[in-house]
Amino acid sequence: MIKTTILDATSENINYCSDLLKHGEVIAMPTETVYGLAANVFDDKAISKIFKIKGRPQDNPLICHISDLDMLDELMMDIHSKIFQKLIEKFWPGPLTIIVPKKASVSNLITANLDTVAIRFPSHNISRTLIEACGFPLAAPSANLSGKPSPTSANHVYDDLNGRVKAILDGGICEVGLESTIIKLDDDLLRVLRPGIISMDMLKEVTENIVLDDSVLNQMGSNSTVISPGTKYKHYSPNADIVLVDSTLDKFKTYVTDKLNEDVWCAVFDDEQKFFDKNVLTFGYNEKDQAHNIFMILRKIDEIGAKKVFFRCPKKENVGLAVYNRLIRAAGFNVVVL
Ligand code: TXA
Ligand code: MG
Repeated sequence: MIKTTILDATSENINYCSDLLKHGEVIAMPTETVYGLAANVFDDKAISKIFKIKGRPQDNPLICHISDLDMLDELMMDIHSKIFQKLIEKFWPGPLTIIVPKKASVSNLITANLDTVAIRFPSHNISRTLIEACGFPLAAPSANLSGKPSPTSANHVYDDLNGRVKAILDGGICEVGLESTIIKLDDDLLRVLRPGIISMDMLKEVTENIVLDDSVLNQMGSNSTVISPGTKYKHYSPNADIVLVDSTLDKFKTYVTDKLNEDVWCAVFDDEQKFFDKNVLTFGYNEKDQAHNIFMILRKIDEIGAKKVFFRCPKKENVGLAVYNRLIRAAGFNVVVL
């Protein structure tokens, strides 16, 4: 078993991690969204370790992280797209992943045999400094065991990957708390595959030619062909059963109050906890707070040993849409509409 160490993000430790990465190791790093499990994009042996460590299905491709626009050349075809230029000017560095046609230098392991590659330019200082120190892009999925909630602190990573990675760079709690918005550019059509803190409305400032992919709100069968393979897997799941209750507060109260006991909890918005006298968790007042807290709450549910949790349903617009997208997956699409 590997000894796992959580390291303060000093320049010495960042250099140590870049050395590990140069030698084909895998390490965990903070980003502004969630923690990532990183390896050298151009080292297939290192990349295959990522899949093994996470228990990730091979048909689920990885995002390549850059620290400099010059790195794009090594990853993607020249697409001469004004929309692409506008997107990167407006949102990079930041929590937006763009899927574009790939160069042959990107291995099929990274892209799961697709002819596209997902690219992200994180704004987090530590990940950017680390990529710069490496001199190559880093492939990084979220640093959780496959199926578990994404990690938003070094301790979350440790809980999942202790004994599986050498180093976890500690960047504190992730500012955003939800993974990046993923979009695919098909000529000039922008398709949102995973909503995030960069909302549809923000993207519409760049182009009106934008659609929300079916997989964002609907359950895809394990045999269906989906544009973003990750969307078909069970996701973000605590051990407890999650039920999402789409209703007014009054109906929610009536529905859950008699059901609450030491095993059964509810999760509500911050100002609503006063209506419940026991077994209540809160996950944020506004949508940004909910995005920031949701993965932390999903992990807390297992810590307190709850067996079932009824969740208030976030607004399905702007950033709320991203929270809703994660919650319906955590609930295995078990949504009660009242
Ligand atoms: O914020 C984030 O995006 C974090 C941090 C670490 O950067 N990363 C992350 O990676 O969330 P991951 O692997 O957990 O989610 C990446 C998603 C998966 O659903 C995968 O299927 C999709 O991106 N994806 C990657 N490459 C793709 C491609 N070429 N076409 C379609 N979907 C792709
Ligand atoms: Mg993930």
